[in-house]
Amino acid sequence: MKKKVYIKTFGCQMNENDSEKMLWLLSEEYEPVKAPSEADLILINTCSVREKPEYKVHSEVGRFKHLKKRKPHLILGITGCVAQQKGEALVKRFPFVDIVLGTQEFYRIKEAIKLVKKGKGPVVWTELKDSFNLPFVPPVRKLCSGVKAYVTIMQGCDNFCTYCIVPYVRGREVSRPPEEILKEVETLASYGIKEVMLLGQNVNSYGKKEKGFPSFAELLKMVAQIEGIWRVRFTTSHPKDLSDELIEVIAKEPKVCKHLHLPLQAGSNRVLKRMNRKYTLEDYLQKVEKLKKLCPEIALTTDIIVGFPGETEKDFEETLKALEKIRYHEIFSFKYSDRPFTAAQKFEDKVPEEEKEKRLDAVHKVQERITQEIYQSYVGKEVEVLVEGRSKKDPSMFMGRTSTNVIVNFIAALEEELIGTLVKVRVTSAGKHSLKGEFEEVIKS
Ligand code: SAH
Ligand code: SF4
Ligand code: F3S
Repeated sequence: MKKKVYIKTFGCQMNENDSEKMLWLLSEEYEPVKAPSEADLILINTCSVREKPEYKVHSEVGRFKHLKKRKPHLILGITGCVAQQKGEALVKRFPFVDIVLGTQEFYRIKEAIKLVKKGKGPVVWTELKDSFNLPFVPPVRKLCSGVKAYVTIMQGCDNFCTYCIVPYVRGREVSRPPEEILKEVETLASYGIKEVMLLGQNVNSYGKKEKGFPSFAELLKMVAQIEGIWRVRFTTSHPKDLSDELIEVIAKEPKVCKHLHLPLQAGSNRVLKRMNRKYTLEDYLQKVEKLKKLCPEIALTTDIIVGFPGETEKDFEETLKALEKIRYHEIFSFKYSDRPFTAAQKFEDKVPEEEKEKRLDAVHKVQERITQEIYQSYVGKEVEVLVEGRSKKDPSMFMGRTSTNVIVNFIAALEEELIGTLVKVRVTSAGKHSLKGEFEEVIKS
């Protein structure tokens, strides 16, 4: 019988993909379980982008302490960005932790487990090389049962936005060779995966540092040509690197989804400059305009930081104005928080907590209305939905997404097996963050 592994994942899609890769690597010996109490191996894959997720890890690790007492053979590991950031300090603080693996080292998970079993723990590996070949981890069929899958195409970041810890915990930008990416997508397609999301901290600079690599736009076209793949998404794009070539591929390639996550962060040029974002609001608006012109159906989403050091009320109003102008489908907004290693933590003019709170509320209010208006505009229309499964809230309904990444829950005759098909749905009403509709017909199966 196989041993049991439980993985808890925090953070971004790349971390989710890394967790999947660890499961693939471990699959001969371990099978995943949903309850930590059943596990022989517990892994916490961590995120340190803001203060809050970092606290969560600490409480999570504490939670597993008693399990270790009850089950002495239980192996407990911490991976991901907090592991990278804290390294040895984690085993000092939590002496019952057996394994700490950084963002380039988790590929050696099996080796680390072997050492722990031999009594040679704790294993702490957190080397971060500037140049690193992202290993190829073959996807395991049994563990790829869904409709969609992530494919990491690059990792790391060279941008050093002044608030951001990512370059310090993910290292420099490294891109995977195109042949390996295509091989991975082909394998996933052969398992029945219909949609892939290409991942990188900054996908637009894919391959720029390597000789003979395609551009990101070229890679996107190659992935879209793979048989069996119906939809291609990608994230995240840095606005400064959003090229005309990429805008054209988004507009013209039918398999590329009509959704772009384009983090703006702030609407004030003064703040953008202090954030080291390397674009102005005008640059950003110009690119959005070009994109909307070539691809009128495009849905935009973004990340916003409120209360960056030195952000005045007037600066903040520029952010609200930008939201009104750009009209995003959805936004992810955060209160600025100080992070180790970053330049902004040393900036003196910090915004008080209650002010940040107030600004976050204001952003939410404005965006809620815009999202509602946009979602209302879908009502009565027919949309194409790739069916992902049953609706979590109401299992009598199916759930899927439009090409524009809007969640649609819809009613269909229960006996119909629609999961994994592309269907036409008529939208009947709009919720806060999703649409409701009625099934019309299967477009592709
Ligand atoms: N690579 C992506 C996103 C990285 S982190 C990009 O460049 O867009 C995801 C989001 O977290 C960022 O877009 C930013 O909005 C937010 N974020 C990062 N550091 C932060 C900090 N110190 N405080 C608050 N939010 C932060
Ligand atoms: Fe962080 Fe900026 Fe790099 Fe994104 S582009 S990961 S926000 S440093
Ligand atoms: Fe978090 Fe690391 Fe992703 S800090 S957002 S898990 S790259």
